[in-house]
Amino acid sequence: HVGALELHWEIDSTSNEIQRRLGTLPDLSMILAETQSAGRGRRGRAWLSPPGLNVYLSCLKRFDAGFAALSGLSLAVGVIVMRTLAALGIQGAGLKWPNDVLSDGGKLAGILVELSGEYQGPCAAIIGVGVNVRLTAALREQAGQPINDLANLAHGQAPDRNLVAASLIAALVEGLRQFEHEGFAGFVEAYGGHDLLRGKPLHLQGALGELDGVGAGVDARGALLLQTPAGVLSIDSADVTVRRA
Ligand code: BTN
Repeated sequence: HVGALELHWEIDSTSNEIQRRLGTLPDLSMILAETQSAGRGRRGRAWLSPPGLNVYLSCLKRFDAGFAALSGLSLAVGVIVMRTLAALGIQGAGLKWPNDVLSDGGKLAGILVELSGEYQGPCAAIIGVGVNVRLTAALREQAGQPINDLANLAHGQAPDRNLVAASLIAALVEGLRQFEHEGFAGFVEAYGGHDLLRGKPLHLQGALGELDGVGAGVDARGALLLQTPAGVLSIDSADVTVRRA
């Protein structure tokens, strides 16, 4: 089989484009855009997507097992982005649960995984990745959160965007096939090697309220493990901040 590979000059969002064509695009299709007019981040935030600087890519991966089997997929994509950086010779980034790729506290790449289909049956994941290759001062100001770029990690020498895109595509094709066979269990050890929260004092805000504890890694389903006086809790979703010790 052959996945589609498309580069658009401008589009609302590469993930929207996959969503619109979910019925016809082959598995492991990749859609890239030079610029997005309505780039989306997690929690309804915008993802600023000016032309000429960064990589905006969405990938379609179909799964037969249904999304009951997909826990940890978004964390696995974090590991896949870390592999991409390693292939480019870029060091100094890590993962903040669930899947922010950070360096010096600033976001280097954002990952948005959206699922559609059945709980136990055919389903599809739309995996959107935005990589900050080269930022401008204006973009840093508009971002509304600390951000960082690959140029900064590579000592001012931004890697060629085509190399970033090519490495990311290669890592996604391989990594998503691996996930299909092994699930997050195949990624949990690698995740641990990049985990920025392990051993850190954490504050969590979630549907059930607020919690403090110490990061104790992630489990084989991708849940965050939190050491608390009441024991180790496993957390499926929350907003996490590192407390000042
Ligand atoms: C986040 O909030 O951290 C996730 C950001 C995801 C951005 C990427 S860019 C390509 C794809 N298209 C979108 O509209 N969003 C994702």
